[in-house]
Amino acid sequence: MAVVIKVKDIDGKVHTISPNGEKNQSIIDMAEAQDIELPYSCRSGACFSCCGWVNKGMEYLDTEKTWEALIDVEPGEVLTCICGVKDSVLEKGDEVEIEIEMFN
Ligand code: FES
Repeated sequence: MAVVIKVKDIDGKVHTISPNGEKNQSIIDMAEAQDIELPYSCRSGACFSCCGWVNKGMEYLDTEKTWEALIDVEPGEVLTCICGVKDSVLEKGDEVEIEIEMFN
């Protein structure tokens, strides 16, 4: 398992998500593919419903992987509906751990 994304939800539960090989996926897409529900509303980078703080692994993330953000977030934050793992990281197959803490 090369890339592991640990997402802590608002209740403190930690979900472990791994990309399934498809490249053009957001973190929410990946979570759904594994039957994990994360908060979202617009799914197009225009609200804060899916926003989270990246505790670890920001360097492995493409913050606008599937769509262009329509709002600004603070440094260290990502919109998980449009943020995904960088193609270069997926291609390399290195052991990588990413940790995100959801705000909602
Ligand atoms: S769900 Fe609105 S920005 Fe992600």
